Amino acid sequence: MSDTMDRPQQPAAAQTTAEASATTDAVVATRSLTKVYGTGDAAVKALRGVDVEIGRGQLTAIMGPSGSGKSTLMHIMAGLDRPSEGTVSVDGVEITGLKERDLTQLRRDKIGFIFQSFNLLPMLNAQENIVLPLTISRTPVDKGWFERLIGIVRLEDRLTHKPSELSGGQQQRVAVARSLVAQPAVLFADEPTGNLDSRRGEEVLQLLRQSVDEFGQTIIMVTHDAHAASISDRVLFLKDGVIVHDHGSMSSDDIYDVIRSLEGICPADADGDGQGRTLAAELCAPANAAPEVVATATGGRDGDGAGLRAER
Ligand SMILES: Nc1ncnc2c1ncn2[C@@H]1O[C@H](COP(=O)(O)OP(=O)(O)OP(=O)(O)O)[C@@H](O)[C@H]1O
Ligand SMILES: [Mg+2]
Repeated sequence: MSDTMDRPQQPAAAQTTAEASATTDAVVATRSLTKVYGTGDAAVKALRGVDVEIGRGQLTAIMGPSGSGKSTLMHIMAGLDRPSEGTVSVDGVEITGLKERDLTQLRRDKIGFIFQSFNLLPMLNAQENIVLPLTISRTPVDKGWFERLIGIVRLEDRLTHKPSELSGGQQQRVAVARSLVAQPAVLFADEPTGNLDSRRGEEVLQLLRQSVDEFGQTIIMVTHDAHAASISDRVLFLKDGVIVHDHGSMSSDDIYDVIRSLEGICPADADGDGQGRTLAAELCAPANAAPEVVATATGGRDGDGAGLRAER
């Protein structure tokens, strides 16, 4: 459950990024983030002013229709791409102005990634792949931590196998262990269950949840899967480059309804019978057309499961 529910929200405009990070313990904070691809007639506004703070030790899901800017936002927050305007800070460091070399260093020190295509190195065995971030940064392996991690991802008897000798689920678990081995300040996961069957996907989701609950890991996950998002502490919905909903823990049904409403589809039973699914009714009422929803100042981050506030 979100620990943001009791935390007073900061008036963002009145503070610098560093101050906001310090007071809200945001691991990642963006201010007025915009991203324009191309120029002139071909210009695409992928992000149109994103202000968000990601709390430490939380699992945050980013959802939204195709083309809404999810990958763009994640890549900019992770320092893999630069914004057109606005700022990003990661663990108290303003990264937008960093030189490429410093940015690479920061990514190495503070950021972990899980990609949809596992990105394991085929010539290295599972153990070598897992400790690769430490090998690259010449950091000694913490044996106790390594063994704990391997126990959690259940790879004890697969450490000497190459990726080609592992199942898809095992490869993804190697990728999860690799992303956690250096205990990054923030872990970004791009569709971490996208290439897995539902059982393997569920395992990966449980691992992510466990790393948040047991180690206080901060995770930001882009996903199209309402079930994956439902294990999160917070769900951000993007549409046309703007965060249109920002809410605490949600059920799969509610998430699904928001996604459908953002795609302009209202559930057939939106008016409902008064027993649940009130969110669908709220989003589609009164003319069975999705209202333009905006993130409120409190962002609906109450996590009370009582539905979203939609504003016209
Ligand atoms: N390199 C690029 N050059 C031009 N336009 C781009 C580029 N990358 C993304 N875009 C555009 O920016 C917008 C946002 O793209 P983005 O990849 O962030 O969407 P997304 O929400 O991740 O979508 P999906 O769910 O399909 O992965 C889209 O309109 C896309 O076409
Ligand atoms: Mg994408």
